[in-house]
Amino acid sequence: MLFEALAVLTPPVLLYKWYTSASRQATGGNHDEQTHRVDVEPIVSDAFGMSILSQIRGAIWAHSIIQKGYEQHKNGMFKIPFFGQWPTIVSGEYIKELAHAPESHLSFQAMLNEFMQLELLVGTGISHDAIYLSVIRALTRRLSAFHPEIADETRAALATQFEKHGKKEKDGWISVKAFKAFSEITTQLNARAFIGLPLCRDQKWMTSIQKGGADMSWRAVLLRMFPEHRRSDANEYMKRYSHVLEDCIALLNPVLEQRRAMREDERPNDVLTLIMSQVTEEEPDPRTIVGTYLFLERVAQGTTHTTFVHVLYFLVAYPEYTEVLREEIRQVHGDGPISFASLGELRKLDSYLREAIRCSGFSSATMNRFAVQEYTFSNGVKIPKGKLVAAVANPIHMDPDIYEDAKEFKPWRFLERTGAEGLGKDSKKYALVTPAEDFLAWGLGKHACPGRWYAAMVVKHLVVYILLQYDIKLPDSAKGKRPANLHVMGSSLPNLSAKVLFKRREGLDWE
Ligand code: HEM
Repeated sequence: MLFEALAVLTPPVLLYKWYTSASRQATGGNHDEQTHRVDVEPIVSDAFGMSILSQIRGAIWAHSIIQKGYEQHKNGMFKIPFFGQWPTIVSGEYIKELAHAPESHLSFQAMLNEFMQLELLVGTGISHDAIYLSVIRALTRRLSAFHPEIADETRAALATQFEKHGKKEKDGWISVKAFKAFSEITTQLNARAFIGLPLCRDQKWMTSIQKGGADMSWRAVLLRMFPEHRRSDANEYMKRYSHVLEDCIALLNPVLEQRRAMREDERPNDVLTLIMSQVTEEEPDPRTIVGTYLFLERVAQGTTHTTFVHVLYFLVAYPEYTEVLREEIRQVHGDGPISFASLGELRKLDSYLREAIRCSGFSSATMNRFAVQEYTFSNGVKIPKGKLVAAVANPIHMDPDIYEDAKEFKPWRFLERTGAEGLGKDSKKYALVTPAEDFLAWGLGKHACPGRWYAAMVVKHLVVYILLQYDIKLPDSAKGKRPANLHVMGSSLPNLSAKVLFKRREGLDWE
């Protein structure tokens, strides 16, 4: 009943919120906005009456609006309408300034709290103390111990999910809807790292975790529609009708009990153990542990999944590079199994993946920050308290002044740059995991993605395993063209319905 009512009420309420907020700005109702605006142009009209249209355009066509803003203000700032706000998007030299702005003024944590309503949904343990950061740092330090788990699960996940999603075609090929199948495959791989066997293969657990993460996201969207002082009551009310988060806590409690009964050094090697070791209170709030788990699972899953599918579409659309990658893998691994150390030696693959991410158009804007205090950029532009600011991303990746032949996919681009600049083969300047002002996939500065080493390991392992074990191609109907991306609210998702064909390669009995 509640959900039916929400389904009916949500669109008009959202539209009203967009309208009132946008109109207030357009008509000068927001004093700060008017008095402090210095040279920050809205890229679509914010004139009264046009605001609501701008907000709708902003949400649907953020991709092209941000591109237009970038072309007009390459080394400046502009505003776009987005979900009832007019965030300022900075570009050029101001990206570095944004990356190094103090957290006390432009806050990443406050942006997370606002968008994900972490404090209400999972308590202050995660929202204030950010224990997830120490968990990821611990995960990164132990990556080599996590690699064998990912390797084992890759084998199992591909076998089961290809069986489940694959449709048999001629000559031993199977056709797989890549987006859907690899969503389940990466969920299983991440679950192996996060909670280990046997739960990572338990359908009930996997479904609850996925629902739990989705539930957190929906509740956050709904809570943000209420005024701040009513959100706590609204949350209590929602809990009566949606208890997926509470169900996850109930499912996880016996596992936590079991692990508490073990000595710390006997506990399994997974993210749950790392979370438990960071929550040191005697009677920890289970919401902190489960909330941290769900938050990290959610962040890790969406990103590794979409990144891998983007890469897969490049692999099948540019088959001429496949043998070069296989040859490098053969040279590095010989006949041995894929090891963590050898993944680090695959320099062509590293360059390939950085270029695939650059070209995938992953996101038009990144480094979102919430002003908890007014902040003044060096050009005098003030971001008033309570406003959002972000950095332009994809248009930089596609800028021909920054990247030669920017629209072309040149997989060895970063390797060649390393050589051309006379950097040694161990230089990390253009490595996949290195953030830069002209490569913003990981963000920049102190909040640059802490999970990037883990993500790189998972994606690399999956690519190497697939190249060794399978021949891959696009169906004939695709005519050799990379399946088109889907642009949603500033993000570029890999094509949701494209099929990729896989055929087991003969004569390989090692992984
Ligand atoms: C290819 C996959 C991934 C991409 C492209 C990606 C990208 C990003 C970006 C753009 C940011 C924001 C940086 C900023 O605002 O300055 C970020 C932050 C973050 N990422 Fe990732 N990410 C990926 C995978 C992961 C994984 C696997 C994890 C967890 C294991 C993770 C955990 C986080 C966390 C916790 C933050 C917030 C950092 C902070 O609070 O300072 N990410 N990521």
